[in-house]
Amino acid sequence: MSKQFELFVPPPSLPDEPPRPLRDPWFNDATGSFALYQGDCMNVLDEMGAEQFDMIFADPPYFLSNGGMTCKNGKMVSVHKGGWDESRGAEANHAFNRAWLARCQRALRPNGTIFVSGTHHTIHSIGYAMQQLGFKILNDLTWFKPNPPPNLSCRYFTHTTETIIWAGRDKKTKHLFNYAEMKRENGGKQMRSMWNMKPPNKAQKSEGKHPTMKPLPLLDRIVRAASNPGDRVLDPFNGSGTTGLACAQTGRNYVGIERDEEYLELSRRRLLASLGEAEVERLTVAR
Ligand SMILES: C[S@@+](CC[C@H](N)C(=O)[O-])C[C@H]1O[C@@H](n2cnc3c(N)ncnc32)[C@H](O)[C@@H]1O
Repeated sequence: MSKQFELFVPPPSLPDEPPRPLRDPWFNDATGSFALYQGDCMNVLDEMGAEQFDMIFADPPYFLSNGGMTCKNGKMVSVHKGGWDESRGAEANHAFNRAWLARCQRALRPNGTIFVSGTHHTIHSIGYAMQQLGFKILNDLTWFKPNPPPNLSCRYFTHTTETIIWAGRDKKTKHLFNYAEMKRENGGKQMRSMWNMKPPNKAQKSEGKHPTMKPLPLLDRIVRAASNPGDRVLDPFNGSGTTGLACAQTGRNYVGIERDEEYLELSRRRLLASLGEAEVERLTVAR
């Protein structure tokens, strides 16, 4: 987890040359409905080519692992999440956000949408990059955490939210929104843009930990709100595979990209643990 990665500032534009052949998946299932790729998402997306996905969820680096401290279970602990989360400075961070967002935009089908989560460290750059690239911003969702850790310095308001920007591929996108399902889920009233959800509980971490695992109910709602069963969903920063799990449980096809093998292993364990025996037998493990 403390592994250091080379600082990589990619070119902001898409490559001119034709896509290289797509690498073999690190893991896939026999039906082709669930695949994990190992590598930098920028390279893998360059290999994948255009208009492949109906929906994308992305939880990119927060760029906040810079020596700060936080409070966990009453103890002061480092916020260091890994080399991948260190800031490279505002300009380089923005160039990175613009580069991977451009690749996601190309990977989306014309009516496809993308959800991107972040804190104040990244979300303004992400929103600006989306405007620069011509995405159509649809909503900014607030994930409200009812039980945040206290602020140790007592010099700030307690951080208790994350923002998730939802956007269409471009200005012409006719986006899918499962309005009736969301309304039903909200007791017959329109679903609002603020969602009160606890961070992952012990059961969600039973197969292992990831420093920024998202709660499964959050991804479950996102996936059901903006895609249909059988649709193809991508998460370019797969982490512990929460998006994949939500897709597998709701009948969506999934592609995850992650560069750290430890997290690919965790994603595979989480997927297999969530499936029944018959379904596990159906799976072909590619390694
Ligand atoms: C914020 S975490 C995602 C957590 C995920 N949403 C979950 O629920 O577990 C970001 C992940 O992206 C990975 N990562 C960072 N930079 C990457 C890149 N350029 N390409 C692919 N993966 C990357 C990190 O290893 C980390 O696991």
